[in-house]
Amino acid sequence: MALVAWNETYSVKVRQFDDQHRKLIDLVNKLHDAMKNGKGSQILSDVLASLAAYAQAHFSDEERLMRIHGYPGFLPHKKAHDQLVAQVRYFQRQAETDGNTITLGVMIFLKDWLVQHIQGEDVKYGPFMNGKGIA
Ligand SMILES: [Fe+2]
Ligand SMILES: [Fe+2]
Repeated sequence: MALVAWNETYSVKVRQFDDQHRKLIDLVNKLHDAMKNGKGSQILSDVLASLAAYAQAHFSDEERLMRIHGYPGFLPHKKAHDQLVAQVRYFQRQAETDGNTITLGVMIFLKDWLVQHIQGEDVKYGPFMNGKGIA
């Protein structure tokens, strides 16, 4: 069973970002599956690296659009992204020293961060972007 499933309450009303959020949720679920099924350390570190890379690309896309349109909540939003990127780098380093194992605590943190960030922060830019003709 998936750790988390995308549903309409996660919609930020911008198609591109809803699609990217679905992909991020897929990657969190893949990581969870790999952990649960005791997959090899190589697979775990590959999935964690994919998640880190995709999250950074997604954050850059959001930040670019916010900057272009002068989104007023840009700075705190970017700060939240930067903190998560630093946190994931820390998890990656820790996983490396622990033989590429991921704990359930790390999984829950990633899932909760993603869901809370989408529902708490990302949804706020929806009406603003819609007002700029982006949907
Ligand atoms: Fe965001
Ligand atoms: Fe996002």
